[in-house]
Amino acid sequence: MNALDAIAAKPERHGIGLMSGTSCDGVDAALVWIRGAGPLLRAGLVHFATLPYPPALRERLLAPDKTPRDITVLNVELGERFAEAALAALDAARAQGITVDFAASHGHTIAHYPPGAGPGASGTFQIGEAAVIAERTGLPVVSDFRQRDMAAGGQGAPLVPYADWLLFRKENESVVTLNIGGIANFTVVAPRLEEVVAFDSGPGNMAIDGAVLLLSDGARAMDVDGAAAAAGRVIEPLLAALLDHPYFEREPPKSTGREEFGPELYLRGPLAAYTGHSFEDFVATVTAAVARSIADAYRRFVAARGAAGEIIVGGGGVRNPTLMGLIARDLPGVAIRTTDDYGIPADAREAMAFAILGSETLCGNPGNVPRATGARRPVVLGSITPA
Ligand SMILES: Nc1ncnc2c1ncn2[C@@H]1O[C@H](COP(=O)(O)OP(=O)(O)O)[C@@H](O)[C@H]1O
Ligand SMILES: [Mg+2]
Repeated sequence: MNALDAIAAKPERHGIGLMSGTSCDGVDAALVWIRGAGPLLRAGLVHFATLPYPPALRERLLAPDKTPRDITVLNVELGERFAEAALAALDAARAQGITVDFAASHGHTIAHYPPGAGPGASGTFQIGEAAVIAERTGLPVVSDFRQRDMAAGGQGAPLVPYADWLLFRKENESVVTLNIGGIANFTVVAPRLEEVVAFDSGPGNMAIDGAVLLLSDGARAMDVDGAAAAAGRVIEPLLAALLDHPYFEREPPKSTGREEFGPELYLRGPLAAYTGHSFEDFVATVTAAVARSIADAYRRFVAARGAAGEIIVGGGGVRNPTLMGLIARDLPGVAIRTTDDYGIPADAREAMAFAILGSETLCGNPGNVPRATGARRPVVLGSITPA
């Protein structure tokens, strides 16, 4: 039996899920136990940590006009960061007497152009070289999860729905999950996998971080605890302008990214059109736009699917109480909970999902949900770099 088959044959595996989201805040590493494979897979978190990017690296990742050389160098540099995050998780595993079987790395998205998003060809590209992660950790690495779904006609995103279905599904009713990362996305977790629906509602923290960054001339990276948004007053015409975007009208499945909602494109013009307002007013308005776009997407595309009145929220947006409060206000009668209430830390959820997806890849099982991505069929995701 080769080494990879031996991992698949184990009744219980341990994997390290690695994720760097569109917020460009750092590498999330989740050490996860996984029992079984396929629909009956069970999983739980053992350890989680984020390795933040130094500001200079974050700035280079966010730079709009990266050359092929920049990207090539960043690919290896991020590989080293991912490896560092994985090595820290390996230390945590060793301290608990756990043997880690594999790493599963989403990488960091450099470009994501799903089919149907606009003119021109489609494609997706994540960096954080798997060869470097494998070389530094001695673990086999599953990476490049999005490509195969796209090759099968899908959007390559969202990929978290399969993990959500494994972790959150109920026998007789649908459950709604929402991840507020850089981009916000909903999953209607139906009892049957074939009926799971998921889509990006639009910008999440990316817009709030972007507004703070633009308005502070790069001095501040986020609205910590939503304090500025809580202190400001919404500029109503600006709010209307931000919500007047064709993406919000499109029917799911749909996915989006920095290409559509990066601050330069989505915010610079509208923010500059309003003068005489405070920093707090602008941040309050952008935060309100994010909340409203999420609430609108819920009403238009989720509630109609007969899901019960509860949303389980994960992602860094959970740490912004102003945003969470506005979503709750915009959706009266809907209970807004967090994944923490279900034993899964909000920050760890996506990295954990990729550990689960990597395990399924090693076991030869598909990890995409065609109704969520628009792919023609379920496909086994990712590339495997042996240890
Ligand atoms: N204490 C906090 N207050 C406000 N926002 C926060 C806080 N902690 C995290 N965030 C937000 O969460 C973002 C990171 O969320 P994350 O889920 O990692 O997104 P991504 O998957 O896109 O990287 C940060 O960029 C920030 O906007
Ligand atoms: Mg992140």
